[in-house]
Amino acid sequence: MFITFEGIEGCGKSTQAKRIATRLERAGVSCILTREPGGTPIGNDIRQILLSSGNRHLPPLAELFLYEADRALHMESVVKPALAEKKWVLCDRFFDATTAYQGYARGQDLHMTTRLNEMASFGIKPDMTFLLDCPVSVGIKRALKRNAESQVAGQDRFEQEKTAFHEAVRHGYGELAKQNPDRFVVVDATQTEDRLEADIFSCLEKHLLIEP
Ligand code: TMP
Repeated sequence: MFITFEGIEGCGKSTQAKRIATRLERAGVSCILTREPGGTPIGNDIRQILLSSGNRHLPPLAELFLYEADRALHMESVVKPALAEKKWVLCDRFFDATTAYQGYARGQDLHMTTRLNEMASFGIKPDMTFLLDCPVSVGIKRALKRNAESQVAGQDRFEQEKTAFHEAVRHGYGELAKQNPDRFVVVDATQTEDRLEADIFSCLEKHLLIEP
C-alpha cells in the first residue's frame, strides 16, 4: 500500500501522517513514514536548497527538476524497496504536490509536469491520497504559529508566497481530486487533530480488512 498526504501549507498533513503511522504500527501493519522533498540524505540537501528563502529567485523550471530529482532518488532508495518488501509506505507529499505547486501555482506546463512526475516515480502511483483541505487563511495562520513555536527563523520560500499562490495550490489540488476520484480522499482539515485522525483511519480500516 502506498498512501500519500497532501494539502496546502499548515493543513496538518505531517501531524496526521505521523499519527496514522503510529496507529498502523499498533495495528500490526509494517509501515514506513517518509516525505518529499527530503526522504533521503541527499534529498535533505535538495530540500534545503528548495526551501531556503535565500534562493528566492530559483527559476521555476530548475525548481521543478529539483523536486523530480529528489523524487527519483527517493523512489529508488526508499519507496520501491519498501513496497517490494510489502511494507506500507506513508509519504508526506508526493507528485500531486508538484502538479499543484509547480504546475497550477507556478504555471509550468501541466502535461510536461505530469510526464516528469511519471518518469521520476517510475510509473508508480499512490493507492490512496488524503487531501487535507482547509481555507488558505487557516493554513497560513497555523504555519506561522508552528514556525513561531519551533523558533524557526523567518518563513521558508513557499510560506512567503502571496495568498493568490496558495489559493492556486488549493485549486490545483481540488482539480487533481476531481480528476482522480479513485485514489483521492478529501478530508476537512479544519477539524480537530483527533477527529481528522479518526476520519483518515476509518478510510484505511476498510483497506486493512482486505489486505492479506
Ligand atoms: P512540506 O510541506 O513537506 O514542508 O513541503 C515543503 C515545501 O515544498 C512545501 O512548501 C510544498 C513544496 N513542494 C513543492 O512545491 N513541490 C513538490 O513536488 C513537493 C513535494 C513539495
